[in-house]
Amino acid sequence: MTSNAERIARLEDMRREAEQGGGAARAERQHAMGKLTARERLDLLLDAGSFTEIDAFVTHRTSGFGMEGQRILGDGVITGHGTIDGRLVFVFSQDFTVFGGSLSEAYAEKICKVMDLAMKVGAPVVGLNDSGGARIQEGVASLGGYAEIFLRNVLASGVVPQISVILGPCAGGAVYSPAMTDFTVMVEGTSYMFVTGPNVVKAVTHEAIDAESLGGASVHTGRSGVAHLAARDEAQAMDQVRQLLAHLPPNNLGDAPIAANSDPADRMDPELDELIPDEPHRPYDMHDVLRRVVDDGEFLELQPAWAGNILVGFARLGGRAVGVVAQQPSVLAGALDIDASVKAARFVRTCDAFNVPLVTFVDVPGFLPGVAQEHGGIIRHGAKLLYAYCEATVPKVTVITRKAYGGAYDVMSSKHIRGDMNFAWPSAEIAVMGAEGAVNIIFRDAIAGAGDGSAERARLVREYEAEFSNPYIAASRGYIDEVIVPRETRPRLIRALEVLADKRDTNPRKKHGNIPL
Ligand code: HXC
Repeated sequence: MTSNAERIARLEDMRREAEQGGGAARAERQHAMGKLTARERLDLLLDAGSFTEIDAFVTHRTSGFGMEGQRILGDGVITGHGTIDGRLVFVFSQDFTVFGGSLSEAYAEKICKVMDLAMKVGAPVVGLNDSGGARIQEGVASLGGYAEIFLRNVLASGVVPQISVILGPCAGGAVYSPAMTDFTVMVEGTSYMFVTGPNVVKAVTHEAIDAESLGGASVHTGRSGVAHLAARDEAQAMDQVRQLLAHLPPNNLGDAPIAANSDPADRMDPELDELIPDEPHRPYDMHDVLRRVVDDGEFLELQPAWAGNILVGFARLGGRAVGVVAQQPSVLAGALDIDASVKAARFVRTCDAFNVPLVTFVDVPGFLPGVAQEHGGIIRHGAKLLYAYCEATVPKVTVITRKAYGGAYDVMSSKHIRGDMNFAWPSAEIAVMGAEGAVNIIFRDAIAGAGDGSAERARLVREYEAEFSNPYIAASRGYIDEVIVPRETRPRLIRALEVLADKRDTNPRKKHGNIPL
């Protein structure tokens, strides 16, 4: 007869066995590669002692191809829930020490189970990815498992926040689960993502390239725009996840937590008044504006190394989380190009899905001209940003610091597309185009006679500037609610967000819109 003590001892043995994963030697190898184990990662991510594991005793169902006698408890992925800053999150952490973290049918079911639970209770999902992809021995059952995850990624999209952390290889169709989550964080030097790896690339296109140069963190945060943040190590990656979640609600029906902060709501920074250069073409760094306006100068910038002509990220105003979209005049004069449009459109939609108010700082000379942009589809891609702002129903507050020219004026959260509170600094220039371009078109014949550098042309430019390059025509029509002294920006924004806190707005009922993809 088995005693209760023996039964409990067996359970404890099994728990210890599950914690071993693929064993000490493989864990050592993981460390030697500069990577942590799946459990060490969960310890870093979650509040101490908060992790509760589920499905620890699940094993694979395959036989053949050397899989007999290789049943490892947990089957290569650790799943469960815990808390981050006291708030519930569901997690999965792929264990590279077990069959290279490769995905089996049972493994996929474990991930699907936590995703389903997260949807039922309305809590975020954080996936820690480190996997050799589809488990070769499982064939189509593994592919089916991936598809089950993809489906859940899509159904959960816009319902609960989903964050992917890439901590090792992520190849083949496996990259499409992270691609459909809200944020992707990569670790420099140890993580990579690609649809086909270097060997396949070599065979098909004869291009020789290593994994890092094909799909490392710097590629995806600097060139492709696939990832949102690059971390120097795994600890920083987990910290970034915690910061992201701090700015988000647990689900689409909730609000982001309001953080206590010591930055006074009525703080005015006089240096803002001097920040815009007198010369209209001189750049300045929009970070300087943001730092002086938001709580404690803290801006969690996303995709900082990609499409630097637009800045997106989270900050707080009066403790409330806000999504910031801002032109960066020091890169491409802040013009909207294809990448900037796509980057900002995605961020606007993320904020709108999760009830995070949008604060937009505008200094835009227009869409970027050029053959490459036109042939690359700037019409289609620019339309994404216009569409995203139009459909967004969260509070939308706008500050025009300098230029707001042409179609880009309309796009950047203007009053006409349901901007709720639109402010302008006295330096704002709101017009169809800049003075030089306008004079060249309207007075082409007169200038042709007088010459480019003529006093007549200079007079016409000055006249146009006096007439059109200011915020007062827009203000006289109510397109700008208030022209403010730059130092007043922080208190005005905080007041606006307070007023708009209970804003309710809707779009017409439909199956879904047809954003120009
Ligand atoms: C089964 C796998 C595996 C896989 C690795 N392993 N990948 N087992 N299925 N896909 C096992 C290895 O046999 C090894 O077992 C252990 O994991 C560690 O692998 P190593 O090769 O020793 O590690 P490393 O040198 O670091 O190389 C890692 C790797 C490489 C780059 C990921 O293993 C690799 O290229 N794997 C195959 C990747 C791949 O092509 N996957 C399919 C992609 S297509 P032992 O017992 O020695 O520890 C795909 C389709 C998705 O995923 C479909 C979605 C629609």
